[in-house]
Amino acid sequence: MTHIVKVMDGFSFMPREGQTLLEALESERVEIDYQCRQGFCGACQVELLAGEVEYEQEPVAFVPPGRILPCCCRTRSDITIEIPESQRKTG
Ligand code: FES
Repeated sequence: MTHIVKVMDGFSFMPREGQTLLEALESERVEIDYQCRQGFCGACQVELLAGEVEYEQEPVAFVPPGRILPCCCRTRSDITIEIPESQRKTG
């Protein structure tokens, strides 16, 4: 089932089946910082404001409450996320 991802600056999109949230964001040309893409480093974390995500495997990195790791999660419902300024890639 396809869910809607709303990014807090006002735009929404639907990830394709099987995409991680990071892959889906990249498909929409939203670039965020990442390193391992496997849940080890915590570099990619964004804020989850509403909805639920699921991890195929519990991430090794510490994930503070209210945050998620887009590199290794998929949507479980429609979600709203906020990408902290520090996570956005520039250039
Ligand atoms: S890029 Fe390392 S945990 Fe997501």
